[in-house]
Amino acid sequence: MAVKEVLKMGDVRLLRRAQEVTSFGTPELRALLADMHDTMRALDGAGLAAPQIGVNLRVVIFGAEKARGNPRYPDAAEVPLTALVNPVITPFSDAAEEDWEGCLSVPGLRGLVPRYARLRYRGNDGHGAPVDRTVSGFHARVVQHECDHLDGILYPMRIRDLRNFGFTEVLFPDGAQREE
Ligand code: NI
Repeated sequence: MAVKEVLKMGDVRLLRRAQEVTSFGTPELRALLADMHDTMRALDGAGLAAPQIGVNLRVVIFGAEKARGNPRYPDAAEVPLTALVNPVITPFSDAAEEDWEGCLSVPGLRGLVPRYARLRYRGNDGHGAPVDRTVSGFHARVVQHECDHLDGILYPMRIRDLRNFGFTEVLFPDGAQREE
């Protein structure tokens, strides 16, 4: 379909609560998911939420395949390419772990963000088929990051100590880092 412009932090469209999808398998939803995939691939992202391309619906995609050799997240565990509509996250406990995150809407920066270590997520794929997974680690992190976009939350809002927020090339002079 098309690579779309990704909205950047400061755009009020990133701060809205996105609306539930009510119809599955429609040409519109298919086109949205295709645009999201094209955009994420073009920017080497690990995930993308519909509000980031200006569509105020509860739709996210994510995926990180080591086999693709994506230079932005060489250390990330493999996460299957997933389209998730109307997602609901249920953490298993309050246990959190901190790790570095980036975001295609906050280019060039990284922050240390606490996330639930293990969770169950449920929702539907683009055709309405149920998705129900229990995940941990990077997979759990990327789901939380993307679903936050659906509630108008960008990762800098979750950084506990803003000393752990900075420019990628300063924080990681030698390494590639992922953006979500
Ligand atoms: Ni993001």
